[in-house]
Amino acid sequence: VFDVITDFVTTNISSRSAFAMVGGCCSFVVVPLLAFLVATGFVKVDITPLCFAAGKLLPTYVPQVDGKALVVPNREIRDFLKRTGLKGGAEAAGPLQGVYMFDQMGPMAWIDFSYATWNPSIEAADFSMDTVTAQSGVPAPEFGGIGPFIPGGYLLPVPEKGQYKVRFYCPAKMKDGDHCKVVESLFGQPYPNKDEVGLMLWHMTRYDGGRKYVRDTWLVPPWTTADDSYSKAHGKFHSYNLFVLMHANGTIDEEHFSRFMEKLDGLYVIKSTMQVLVCMSGDFVGPSLTSSFSKGAHIIDAMNAVGVDYATFGNHEFDYGYQSLVNRLQGFDDDAQAGDGNEEVDYPKSSATWLMTNMSEGKTGHPVGGPETKRCDITEVNGVRVGLIGLSEDYIETGREYAQKLKREGAEVVVALTHNRFDNDKKLTAEVPEIDLLLGGHDHFYKRADKKHRVVKSGEEWRWLTHTILHVGKKLEKMSVERYDVDSDVDCDPSIQELVDKYTRIRDNKFMKVICQIKAPFDATEECCRYQEGVMTNWICDAIAEDYSEKDGLQSADFAMIMGLHFAGKQVFPVGDFTLGSLMCVFPKPCQIVVLKLKGSDVIKSLERGCMSLPKECGSLHHTSAALTYKIKLGKGKAANEVTDVKVKGKAIQKDKLYEVAVTDTMAKGKFGYTWMAEAERIVDMESGMQVQDLVLMYLKRHPKQAAHAPLGRITIS
Ligand SMILES: *[C@@H]1O[C@H](CO)[C@@H](O)[C@H](O)[C@H]1NC(C)=O
Ligand SMILES: *[C@@H]1O[C@H](CO)[C@@H](O)[C@H](O)[C@H]1NC(C)=O
Repeated sequence: VFDVITDFVTTNISSRSAFAMVGGCCSFVVVPLLAFLVATGFVKVDITPLCFAAGKLLPTYVPQVDGKALVVPNREIRDFLKRTGLKGGAEAAGPLQGVYMFDQMGPMAWIDFSYATWNPSIEAADFSMDTVTAQSGVPAPEFGGIGPFIPGGYLLPVPEKGQYKVRFYCPAKMKDGDHCKVVESLFGQPYPNKDEVGLMLWHMTRYDGGRKYVRDTWLVPPWTTADDSYSKAHGKFHSYNLFVLMHANGTIDEEHFSRFMEKLDGLYVIKSTMQVLVCMSGDFVGPSLTSSFSKGAHIIDAMNAVGVDYATFGNHEFDYGYQSLVNRLQGFDDDAQAGDGNEEVDYPKSSATWLMTNMSEGKTGHPVGGPETKRCDITEVNGVRVGLIGLSEDYIETGREYAQKLKREGAEVVVALTHNRFDNDKKLTAEVPEIDLLLGGHDHFYKRADKKHRVVKSGEEWRWLTHTILHVGKKLEKMSVERYDVDSDVDCDPSIQELVDKYTRIRDNKFMKVICQIKAPFDATEECCRYQEGVMTNWICDAIAEDYSEKDGLQSADFAMIMGLHFAGKQVFPVGDFTLGSLMCVFPKPCQIVVLKLKGSDVIKSLERGCMSLPKECGSLHHTSAALTYKIKLGKGKAANEVTDVKVKGKAIQKDKLYEVAVTDTMAKGKFGYTWMAEAERIVDMESGMQVQDLVLMYLKRHPKQAAHAPLGRITIS
């Protein structure tokens, strides 16, 4: 499963930067005028009140969407803070933790120390000032953005343009009265060392159990020293407070929060115009253990909770057949089952818009996925018209055709969701310049391609997330791509955790059910399944063959041939209870059985091809039901392995006779080089073939009391 978040920012902030410089931090402008007088220590001046007053003079900029101002009541600020605070995802931030508001700083707003990275070897926390977000009006910065919530001023674009970063040299554990020295870096310059003086002299002192920091500034003439003596002898130039708004444990500090709200003083609050598009590039139905009964419905539930806006299909969407996929998108539960724990499961309809530009239903010609799937779509995100397509397989011609069509229809940028191999994604972006960003699935690794990052592959299993920001002026001007690793350090969202718990509970209830007893250990390791016969592989082949045997009067098969690589599980199941969960471990994916008519000579050819790589790992080794036995003579040196003594029910196989053979659908399609299987006549085809798991369960129903066992001796290797 691949998930990518993309959002779009319009970059028209330059006309406002002049205001912001004055309002946001007066020091940039006033410094040269006052520097000399103050630096000599003769004139004492604190420009903090001036900053505060100047900030209040700024007009309020109200973002408009569809000609209407986006305003919401102040009460939403608390939710906003809870949602966006402490989300920095940085390594342990050292002594500075929590979200702090600025006091007496005019329009500046808040600083979230979870964005600081703590480097214990130098006892310093680094912080990029463009994560300080403030002021209404300017499109929010990349990180959460209180900005649009604060009326009366503007976000300071200087930090972003000037790459303004600060470093806090702090004791690793701070008590009240301790202070950090603060140094700065602009335009990528290295930070001054702890004992050097930077552009200014800053100190930040802790009070009130860490709920308050006082930050003082001194100007620095050439004779300034970094120790405390200069700051003691000279007047402060600028001083303000930082009050905790949210503690490091995520609790809002009510006292300071209400002061913060008082500062807003009844002004209306402007809602963030930042919209995010959440996109997913396919493979949600399977394979997973939970899918074995939910048929992918649990992922639809999760996608809805995450708020996926656009998605396209992958190859695993067809694991349970096409109708099952349509059922999933519609929220029908025809084939998805609840657990045995009698828990009600209400499978939801997908809330995403599904895109498939280039695959159609055979009968109707509609895009795959049902009547609601779209070939392409245009949506407006933060004022930018974004065109989207979803491609797999025959991708270049159609990709070009639709990308051009979307641009003609007014899309300012075109995003392609694809389910292709990486090389094909690169080919597509190389040949179709109209695609501005490609978010790809299918490959299981995380990767980005080309300098402009037009291809982003966000890997597998929700392990990575990419946040892509497209800055669009007249055209796409800039793109920034940020990768997030979703590992155990990331806190689980409570609502998603609830979903995970629910489906795990249902699955565990279902899987705990004992389906039979086993008399000898079932070895499902690769060391067994891919090298030699085993009790479990033999037993499963017997179960398959019997299901298809004539005595049931349904279908028929003389024997089953199943390759080692079809058995997963990777463990040895001990004697005793064998559960549904264990069976699902062995076959976590759907594995369909079909029955072919194969000539004796083709059976021998299959067995020979299957054992080729022995004595090395041999995924294609054929396990058999009791009726088929054979010997493998390992070739000496470079000689090939030989298959001899192939017998059906104890009699030598007849080369010209046709046998009814149960194999997996992958084998029957001629994969792994079994071209003769692809051509063979079908007795049970894909339409009516059943899953191995179900065949085993049906076999057990016919033999309710019998312990599972199958003797060895079918494959002799010498
Ligand atoms: C969070 O931390 C603050 C300050 O340390 C403390 O007062 C508060 O009780 C804590 N809240 C929780 C829920 O632990
Ligand atoms: C998919 O692409 C092929 C080749 O470009 C084209 O023939 C076919 O009509 C396309 N299908 C759809 C649904 O666009």
